[in-house]
Amino acid sequence: MQLTGAKAGIKKLNHHLRKTQIMKNNKLQSYLNQLLATETAFAFLTRNAHWNLISVQFKPLHEYLGELYSASNERLDEIAERNRMIGGTPVSSFSELSDLSKIKTPAVALSKLPRVLETLIAATEVLVTFLKKGIALADEIGDSGTEDFLTGLLRDHEKNAWFLKSHLEK
Ligand SMILES: [Fe+2]
Repeated sequence: MQLTGAKAGIKKLNHHLRKTQIMKNNKLQSYLNQLLATETAFAFLTRNAHWNLISVQFKPLHEYLGELYSASNERLDEIAERNRMIGGTPVSSFSELSDLSKIKTPAVALSKLPRVLETLIAATEVLVTFLKKGIALADEIGDSGTEDFLTGLLRDHEKNAWFLKSHLEK
């Protein structure tokens, strides 16, 4: 009788642990959608700057901003596909992406320095902070693949912040 009770207790505990794991995994899927939305906003910012920049350093900066945009676009694909790998569904509508983003995109042309660079630096800082949250979440779940993936993105954005800051005149 007692053994049956213990078995039932273990079964209940296992069920609870599975449920908790599913809830945490869902949290990571939602996180990846927020990240997808925030990286989308970053891609919009870099494209806005690439298109609208007016500067004496136009050519190298225009080219650099184009590279930033292309790299951001590649990350978007990787974030969406990572979400699919862990069972999530990437958000794809403009309205959802806009709602979920941690970065707001200005409805004006990013044309003048230092504003262009300052806007992009602030955006990379939001992404760095948000990526650290995701790394902690993936670690808590024990999803080493997603943790490693997010760490790679963190390194990308730390490098972007450094490059962008290096363009600012002192
Ligand atoms: Fe271009």
